[in-house]
Amino acid sequence: MGTKLTAPAVSRRKRSLGADPLVMLTAYDAPSARMADEAGADLILVGDSVAMVVLGHDDTMSVTIEEMAHHTAAVARTRPRAMTVADMPWMSYHVSAADTVTNAAKLVRAGAQAVKLEGGAERVHMIEAIMSAQVPVMGHLGLTPQSVLALGGFRMQGRSSEAGLSLVADAKALAHAGCFAIVLEAMPAAVGRLITDAVDVPTIGIGAGGDCDGQVLVLHDVVGLENRTTPRFVRRYASLHDQGVEALARFADDVRSGAFPSRHECYEMSSEEEMALGLYAHRK
Ligand code: KIV
Repeated sequence: MGTKLTAPAVSRRKRSLGADPLVMLTAYDAPSARMADEAGADLILVGDSVAMVVLGHDDTMSVTIEEMAHHTAAVARTRPRAMTVADMPWMSYHVSAADTVTNAAKLVRAGAQAVKLEGGAERVHMIEAIMSAQVPVMGHLGLTPQSVLALGGFRMQGRSSEAGLSLVADAKALAHAGCFAIVLEAMPAAVGRLITDAVDVPTIGIGAGGDCDGQVLVLHDVVGLENRTTPRFVRRYASLHDQGVEALARFADDVRSGAFPSRHECYEMSSEEEMALGLYAHRK
């Protein structure tokens, strides 16, 4: 495992230049950050998917900048070797450049080394504002979950050649504005490939095919912490939900049968003190 990645180092990680694919995983708290880091992820994304994966919302639009800072701080406290990127939530970069920079600063002060935001050419002004405060920005194109209402659902994007070319133009605008990497979510593999070839910064795909410069998945999906149906781009490598339910059911059985706790799971007192305790209780 190498040293901690920085935004400039990530920006050079093009597979076309012989670089290894980038590995990014989400984490929202200390245990998941430690898991991602020990597994050797290059980047940890404190994604606004925390809203749906952990906080029980139906979409990502409910999470606030304060909540994102709270989760970012929990991840950063583990001092991961992986570079920590935090998502700017909906409405934290839409109102004014001043608000946008203040909100990006909240995530950096919580421990993020870069921020990610969704959208194409229409976001360039805000990206430039954040970068003028010396904060690196990661872009996010394709299925941008914060636009779920406008998109009419969580749907694959770039289906037509026209829509695909419009994504290429957006990617070029983000790269030109100075984004150090771009997440590509839920689009045909051919569009993922075209964008990856069109920009000098790495693309990190999630449902954007195998030609991107890296891949990202939600950690909870990879380890199967939930049994819910996942999008087709998810590969589940473990079934922690099932294992967890089985372990908890065994605990419940042991409590009910008296098998838990055993003597080894209890604190002992010296025999003299225990005897004195008995005598005292008896006297009362
Ligand atoms: O919030 C998130 O988890 C993300 C990934 C899907 C890239 O933005």
